[in-house]
Amino acid sequence: MSDFTKKLNANAKNTEKFLKYFFSKHQSNSNLIKPMKYGLFSGGKRLRSSIIVNTGKIFNLDYKKLIIIGAAVECIHSYSLMHDDLPTMDNDDFRRGKLSTHKKFNESTAILAGNSLLTLAYEILSSKKLKLNDKIKSDLIQSLSVCVGHSGLAGGQYFDLAFENKKISKKKIINMQIKKTGELFGFCCESIAIIKKHNYKRRNLLKKIGLNIGLLFQIVDDLIDYKGDSKIVGKLTKKDFIMGKATLVNLIGYNKTLSFAKNLKNKINHDVKKYGRKSDDLSKSVDFILKRKF
Ligand code: IPE
Ligand code: IPE
Ligand code: MG
Ligand code: MG
Ligand code: MG
Repeated sequence: MSDFTKKLNANAKNTEKFLKYFFSKHQSNSNLIKPMKYGLFSGGKRLRSSIIVNTGKIFNLDYKKLIIIGAAVECIHSYSLMHDDLPTMDNDDFRRGKLSTHKKFNESTAILAGNSLLTLAYEILSSKKLKLNDKIKSDLIQSLSVCVGHSGLAGGQYFDLAFENKKISKKKIINMQIKKTGELFGFCCESIAIIKKHNYKRRNLLKKIGLNIGLLFQIVDDLIDYKGDSKIVGKLTKKDFIMGKATLVNLIGYNKTLSFAKNLKNKINHDVKKYGRKSDDLSKSVDFILKRKF
């Protein structure tokens, strides 16, 4: 196992440990806890959490704080997948090698458990466990809300569905993907600038890196959908073609999309490397995103 994979796994383990601890503090008999945990603890790569850790490393930020922010982001990511799989959206029966939440439970449960994971993220960020001052916390919460809402993840998902079976320009596809997937990665990098109280310009530089990492991530997800093995990926592949999704793969083909992704990766790493040696792990995460098979 490479050094990078070991670190990725360690971050994933620590993120899950915090999330389990946070659930253990909720002595609630809510029927939604079980489906929430089903969707959350199901073997995700926790790559978003790792991007936070690796961006924080550049500025010597405390690991524990980064893991807690990563845990909040992973709740939002799992919520987005739970809803993404619903019959009214992508209609996928499998996720992370298991039945998707609405198949295991039912649709209304998946909607409510997803909503509850979304709000859990804000509970985590505002909790006393995250030792940051109130101004920083409220800035984090504000930025995350913008990234995830109507002009971010949710707005991007809207376009993704509205664009099905339509001829959509490359520019519009990229814009949609930056919203649906890029914005959450954007927050992962921007959150570090918020904690460090960077000025607007420096904050925007980090956010931009995150947006591009997210765009790369989504483009590679589309490449994997085209060529990947369902057993390795843990979800059905070849679905984007069947659903008539507006992806670069469907517009310009696999090879041209792969070249686009390679160029984008180089551009991101060019920007990342400006932060010096401490950005090595972030740079390796970007390499991993392009090389990954799942
Ligand atoms: C899949 O995300 C959905 C996209 C945004 C492309 P991941 O590939 O990060 O999913 P998990 O968390 O590892 O299952
Ligand atoms: C999902 O994109 C993006 C989200 C914000 C949830 P996809 O629909 O391509 O993700 P998969 O392929 O189902 O994981
Ligand atoms: Mg989708
Ligand atoms: Mg989907
Ligand atoms: Mg996909």
